[in-house]
Amino acid sequence: MANTKILVTGGAGFIGGNFVQYMVNKYPSVEVYNLDLLTYAGDLTKHREIENKGNYHFIKADITDRETIIPLFEKELFDYVVHFAAESHVDRSITDPEVFVRTNVLGTQVLLDASKKIGLKKFVHVSTDEVYGELDFDPTTFFTETTPLQPNSPYSASKASSDMIVRAYHKTFGLPINITRCSNNYGPFHFPEKLIPLTISRVLNEEKVPVYGDGGNIRDWLHVLDHCAAIDLVLHEGINGEVYNVGGHNERTNLEVVKTIIKTLGKSEELIEFVKDRLGHDKRYAIDPTKLEQLGWKPTYTFESGIAQTIDWYLDNKWWWEQIISGEYQKYFVKQYSL
Ligand code: NAD
Ligand code: TYD
Repeated sequence: MANTKILVTGGAGFIGGNFVQYMVNKYPSVEVYNLDLLTYAGDLTKHREIENKGNYHFIKADITDRETIIPLFEKELFDYVVHFAAESHVDRSITDPEVFVRTNVLGTQVLLDASKKIGLKKFVHVSTDEVYGELDFDPTTFFTETTPLQPNSPYSASKASSDMIVRAYHKTFGLPINITRCSNNYGPFHFPEKLIPLTISRVLNEEKVPVYGDGGNIRDWLHVLDHCAAIDLVLHEGINGEVYNVGGHNERTNLEVVKTIIKTLGKSEELIEFVKDRLGHDKRYAIDPTKLEQLGWKPTYTFESGIAQTIDWYLDNKWWWEQIISGEYQKYFVKQYSL
């Protein structure tokens, strides 16, 4: 992949950030361009250890800004795009759906238009299992790649819409694409508005942990580095036009997750506070990853090893999540690509 240029959108966020570090370190001869608007979820302090490497570049830009994105693609002639940039938090999509449609749908379409102009080798669209809607509590049922899309939240509806527009650019214009649909991620640099980092940071600060409803909703958890490896594999080996589900069969109720964290940190379950349920709260997600396994992927973390590693990381990197909670991270300045 020498002299190859990869554009990673949303590379200042949680999964995109881990992916940028993974690629910069794994492929020193590949130029990695991190394009991110730096919304509240974008944080560049996580890249302190790679920001001076010669193959890392940061571009501050908005994926919905056609006047910037199209000339950028025409100038740099990227070989690959791995598209993470999105509004990603379900609760925010319930209070402010509009930005979800703008960023997740329109932003994706602008990137596809730009990609179509330059003969891109592949566009990998990072999507979510939430586009399939919800499963009931029957543990023998799973989402496969052919499960109909039935999104329930404004977030998942905007992601499903973006999946459809990616598919359309493949079918209509022949753009080489893959779509990945991963289960819930966790791991280092996870923004503490989501369940696992919120719980770890609150428990460490001896603050109450809000559990929605009765805590019985089920999510299928995957360590972020296993997700990064899956995307790397799909980027290189994925069959043009195909969708791949990503998940490691790690289903847990929310209450089990919260109790595991509290127990590992040696704190009291009295920190748990049951609160009003989320509107339209999906009951259960569970991925069948057979298709991706057949391509050669398997996860390296179990939920037990992954959550232990993650808790240790939050204990060792208090500097990171404390400045996220205080908002200090937004003052961090780095050298930027000049548009
Ligand atoms: P995140 O919220 O942590 O990061 C999103 C990043 O996108 C931020 O850095 C933000 O600044 C950037 N961004 C937002 N709007 C932008 C815009 N208009 N232009 C440029 N950049 C913009 O999200 P995440 O949890 O890392 O998720 C990344 C992707 O993976 C999303 O597409 C999400 O749907 C998908 N996904 C997430 C999960 C999960 O568990 N978090 C699971 C499966 C799939
Ligand atoms: P979240 O991390 O927001 O991811 P998603 O909604 O994309 O699955 O939430 C994971 C689960 O945890 C979900 O069922 C909602 C629940 N939850 C809580 O019970 N309390 C919280 O404070 C949060 C943020 C989530």
